[in-house]
Amino acid sequence: MDLIDALRTTGAARNFHPGVVSDEVLHRLLDTARFAPSGGNRQGWRVIVVKDPEAREALRDIYLTGWYEYLAMVASGLVPWAPFTDRDAEAVAITRAHEFAELAAAAPEPGFAESLHQAPALLLILADLSALAAVDRDLPRYTLAGGASIYPFIWSLLLAARAEGLGGVMTTMPVRREDDVRALFGIPENVAVASLVALGRPIAAPRRLKRDPVGSFAWLDRYQGPAFSADE
Ligand SMILES: Cc1cc2nc3c(=O)[nH]c(=O)nc-3n(C[C@H](O)[C@H](O)[C@H](O)COP(=O)(O)O)c2cc1C
Repeated sequence: MDLIDALRTTGAARNFHPGVVSDEVLHRLLDTARFAPSGGNRQGWRVIVVKDPEAREALRDIYLTGWYEYLAMVASGLVPWAPFTDRDAEAVAITRAHEFAELAAAAPEPGFAESLHQAPALLLILADLSALAAVDRDLPRYTLAGGASIYPFIWSLLLAARAEGLGGVMTTMPVRREDDVRALFGIPENVAVASLVALGRPIAAPRRLKRDPVGSFAWLDRYQGPAFSADE
């Protein structure tokens, strides 16, 4: 598949045909993803392939706590957990999380979150914090540069999966309960939970992705200057 086509059409897949993804395929995906860039080429990603049914169910339960809070915040018009946000409004919204849990319980079919434990493959992606060049570590704001050494690995994994006719989604909901995830898998304190990736053979064909145009986020010479365009 053409690289540009893959970049423009690889969306999140959350509904999969039943059946596991073989270890051989998973190994091949990881073997390709490991060529992702990282600060200083420190390669701080760590991966747990989660097969144990009890651990999978525990991860699903951990996921669901954050998921219902997420839905409650979205319903209140918030960007969930945005570093810049109205924390009071967020706290009020979260009190309604149980309503979304009840709605999900009454739904005729379980959603992606409720059936997460049944995903054909689940990969827990971790970050060894002692291997991250987090250049913004000492700034008086929320830090994000460290994650840039991990998430490209996940994106490479998803693109490699696409090349195999697979699809998936990077999720971050389990990060909300990182300590519980650490306890579940024996993860040491210097290692953070970056993502839980679900993979499988997608039921739906790739669809047209909705993204904002370049002119809405790229400017010439200054922040919110003239929209950057291809024309002189
Ligand atoms: C950092 C990050 C965190 C995400 N967390 C979740 C998540 O917890 N659960 C989930 O279902 N999707 C998650 N996603 C997937 C996004 O919802 C998805 O990329 C976005 O909605 C665009 O979807 P599309 O590519 O299918 O258009 C995450 C994506 C990123 C990049």
